[in-house]
Amino acid sequence: MKVKPPILQQYELQPASLGIPVDWEQVFGRKAPIRVEIGFGNGGALVWCAQKNPAVNYVGFELPKDCILRSTARLWRAEVPHARVICGDARYLLRELFAPASVEKVLMQFPMPWPKEKHAKHRVYSPRFATSLAHVLKLNGCFELVTDQKGYAQETEKILSAHPSFAVDPLEVNPPRPYKTRYEEKWLEEGRSIFRVVATLQENVPAHRFLIQEPMETKHLSFLPTEADLRPLLQTTFREQESVFQVKDLFKADDGWLLDVVSSDESFSQRFLLRILEKNDGRILVRPSGIQAPYYSEAVRFGIQSVIDTLISAQSQG
Ligand SMILES: C[S@@+](CC[C@H](N)C(=O)[O-])C[C@H]1O[C@@H](n2cnc3c(N)ncnc32)[C@H](O)[C@@H]1O
Repeated sequence: MKVKPPILQQYELQPASLGIPVDWEQVFGRKAPIRVEIGFGNGGALVWCAQKNPAVNYVGFELPKDCILRSTARLWRAEVPHARVICGDARYLLRELFAPASVEKVLMQFPMPWPKEKHAKHRVYSPRFATSLAHVLKLNGCFELVTDQKGYAQETEKILSAHPSFAVDPLEVNPPRPYKTRYEEKWLEEGRSIFRVVATLQENVPAHRFLIQEPMETKHLSFLPTEADLRPLLQTTFREQESVFQVKDLFKADDGWLLDVVSSDESFSQRFLLRILEKNDGRILVRPSGIQAPYYSEAVRFGIQSVIDTLISAQSQG
């Protein structure tokens, strides 16, 4: 499928280059209630909901880029101006990109169940996710999960019921659903039942967030490191609480160096290029490359500072 870049620009949001939390009023050019869909797949339900509710702003999260491409094309064809999609892990970005008590509804339809315990870390649903919901949902806002996996529905219901912020409705089986998603059609054809969990927020609880709500600082060095200065970084993992930072590779650039790095906050990983560059005026700057720029997180800040401290310490020891 060919998606023209202006369509992507219109519908796909790159929040790493915006202020955090995102100013949604500015993004949509209007003040309106916000509803979020996690894992929208091909975007069918997102488009349907947005067409049905022109007075609501919609934000969808997906992981694979082809889901983003397909959904932006759909949104464009449907001429829906009040929806945006974001490529990224909603387990974290939900909590990070929305102000506290600002979202009216979070919908998740047919998430992958990841039934094996060794894959549990991939499940969207967890007690930590309940905390994120309690952070972003408005009072009386709701979280809705629809799934063909009874166990997943029951587990979600159990965790939400145990959370003091939520009132959880009794689990519904085969509720009437005016729009059926692609996966839903598939499971119904196979004769499976559909389960729905709806939880309403009774009390907001702020959660810790790892994205820094300030513009990313550019750091400086007083010398341009040599390859010999930089090589030892390749064997080092920097850790501080839930922040982890690793230098994976090193490349020479015309104006200095590029470090291929990975930062992790909790399990939110970002891979990006960290530039160490010499400006014409002789200043040495240390900052992420503008291509695929990362979100400015605690791990990113900690990792960049750790690289700088290590280089300065090695330099001072001769
Ligand atoms: C089984 S598909 C269902 C798609 C669609 N909701 C439907 O019912 O047809 C689950 C989707 O959730 C997405 N997903 C899984 N984990 C996610 C996460 N942490 N953040 C955003 N999307 C996620 C996957 O990429 C996948 O497209």
